Amino acid sequence: MSKSLQATAISSPNIAFVKYWGKRDSALNLPTRNSLSMTLGAPLETKTTVTFDPKLGADTLLMNGKAVEGDGLARACRVLDAVRKEAKLALHASISSSNSFPTGTGIASSASGFAALASAAWAAAGLKWDEKKVSAIARIGSGSASRSIAGGFVIWEKGKKPDGWDSFASSFAPPSHWPELRDLVVVLDDAHKKVGSNAGMQDSVKTSKLYPPYVKEGDRRVEKIKGLILSKNLPSLLEEIMAESDALHAVMADTTPPLYYMNENSKKVAAFVRQYNARVGKTVVGYTFDAGPNAHLITTADRVEELKKEVSKLVPVKAFFVSAPGPGVKVL
Ligand code: DP6
Repeated sequence: MSKSLQATAISSPNIAFVKYWGKRDSALNLPTRNSLSMTLGAPLETKTTVTFDPKLGADTLLMNGKAVEGDGLARACRVLDAVRKEAKLALHASISSSNSFPTGTGIASSASGFAALASAAWAAAGLKWDEKKVSAIARIGSGSASRSIAGGFVIWEKGKKPDGWDSFASSFAPPSHWPELRDLVVVLDDAHKKVGSNAGMQDSVKTSKLYPPYVKEGDRRVEKIKGLILSKNLPSLLEEIMAESDALHAVMADTTPPLYYMNENSKKVAAFVRQYNARVGKTVVGYTFDAGPNAHLITTADRVEELKKEVSKLVPVKAFFVSAPGPGVKVL
């Protein structure tokens, strides 16, 4: 075990091209389908320091300087418990986490947050780096966090085991495979989502008739998109990304009670993307939406400034963020 029981890690969110929506085990965040994502990078980063300290009587969590309790702290404790079990460690920890991007901008920080936490806790406990295990532990905090551990283009395998150790994410292509690809994040609304993804996805599993075919389609779509990324077939990749986002939001609308995460401006941006591609004469930009109204426009670096200008004319934009494929978690 290392002398100092403290470590710091930096992680970024990821954008799913094939989504995680539904759990076969909600305590361990074990998914019903495989998913595929691109890990993002600067300027979207979370930096987290974990200190195991014999003086502490309980785990504590500070986010951007503010103490967090309730569900946020409970999830963090579950991640710490998994690390303590691996390291045979009985100490409580203090966690201090901050985001480089302003909070409340509608950018989900749970993926980068739990990826940074799992990595920092793993290193602070003196364990030898094991990407698969750290990914599986990040997953316990938030499912999508499993994918932020690895860099570039990533698949999270749903796995079969009840203990979840075979449900982790790994990279199939590094960021250098497609460095000019971009996620242009269009922040349309910075309010907190009304129905969190955890509750929303459980309702979809239970009530949507479109859910079983959506799950069935998932693994085939992961293989297809993986192939399109490896062959760098941009138009077909973007069409498939949009088809997946449309399928997810159809499942959400088919859920009882219906889940409407996209708002009128999200729909305007989606329609604009189709029109823009028609004008150019080929598919050069694709949209994808998660459990919120903000648009992720997947495109190449040369299109970003023009797209920003056109989208700004169309709808009121709170903020833009632009990210290339990122490197995955970094332990400092
Ligand atoms: C729509 O990872 O936030 O963004 O495991 O309950 O924390 P929990 O869910 P979370 O769900 C993300 C859902 C999504 C799709 C995706 O990123 O794959």
